[in-house]
Amino acid sequence: MFIETCIAPVNIALIKYWGKRDEDLILPINDSLSMTLSTDEMCAKTTAAASDKFDKNTMWLNGEEVPFEENPRVMRCVRELKRLASLKKDPKFPIEWNLRICSKNNFPTAAGLASSAAGYACLVYTLACLYGVEDEELTSIARQGSGSACRSLYGGFVQWIMGTHDDGTDSIAVPIAPESHWPNMHVLILVVNDSKKKTASTKGMQRSVMTSDLIKHRAANCVPKRISEITDAIQTKDFNKFAEITMKDSNQFHAIALDTFPPCIYMNDVSHAISDFVHALNEAAGATKVAYTFDAGPNACLYLLKEDVPQVFRAIQSSFPSDSQGDEYLKGLPIKEEADSLLKNSTPYGENLLKYVIHTKVGTGPKMLSKEDSLIGSDGLPL
Ligand code: PMV
Repeated sequence: MFIETCIAPVNIALIKYWGKRDEDLILPINDSLSMTLSTDEMCAKTTAAASDKFDKNTMWLNGEEVPFEENPRVMRCVRELKRLASLKKDPKFPIEWNLRICSKNNFPTAAGLASSAAGYACLVYTLACLYGVEDEELTSIARQGSGSACRSLYGGFVQWIMGTHDDGTDSIAVPIAPESHWPNMHVLILVVNDSKKKTASTKGMQRSVMTSDLIKHRAANCVPKRISEITDAIQTKDFNKFAEITMKDSNQFHAIALDTFPPCIYMNDVSHAISDFVHALNEAAGATKVAYTFDAGPNACLYLLKEDVPQVFRAIQSSFPSDSQGDEYLKGLPIKEEADSLLKNSTPYGENLLKYVIHTKVGTGPKMLSKEDSLIGSDGLPL
């Protein structure tokens, strides 16, 4: 049995990907740009094994067996990696051998956080390690699992170039700056209490492309300018500019969601309260200290610099008071408690509006782990 285990990070888009021009190959209508989050706090972990003893392909996700051969996106990734492996002069093992894949997220999937990006990036990276292929095509393969997954194959700041070719070969992710370039870039994820089922991103995007006029204007006129401006802001570490572009792009994405017919509603009242809170805090501070961004759900991802985390967190605690305390409320990196709130005398928006907060920061790309970290035992079964 050949076996490898890897981890891959979550990434959160600053300039959003929304809308496909090819549904099968997952080719977008605009470039997007994201920051990769540290795998210390959140990551997907995957073990892939191949053996001539496996009578079929099997996959487990978070402890449960899930469809493998019936999942076209997984199969497309596997097929592409087998194609690359078959080009090798000395393959490690016959590519016909069946696979067993076991994958887990170390963060709650139910929280509605970008789990598919980390998951597909991890699947592709782990299979590449298993088959012994090193290839620049990996981001283009991960893209075919879940679009945003292509950006999780690098650390730091990453751009997904939409490309123009019909076969998608130039629709790839490229690194803009490594995590070491801006190491004090931190993130607070505010997980909002919410049980409403959202329109899945695939469906939502399809509907937006078909019905929204605003989406065409954004792809043609707004995104190219924003990509170049935010790349500059990242390169010069201009937080003010970075924050403004990030918030404006999130707002425009949700404006498109509303311009879709029937509309897609992703932000809820708590999300809007968070947006209001961030603007009030920036005004009180007399400088842009925090930027928000929201994906296809109500949770907020706040970008801020390390030195501002304690004061901003105090402000979150007083504006969004919660009954849960300690590590029930704050997960991830610890935060110094003694700081003053950045927002004095604020009225709380309500009690228990947030489930919990995750504190993390910019991080590296996928990593191969050792045999001891395997999710599959020597008997070929999940541990
Ligand atoms: O890759 P998907 O299909 O999960 O779509 C991701 C869409 C957004 O998260 C809303 C934006 C993005 O660029 O990640």
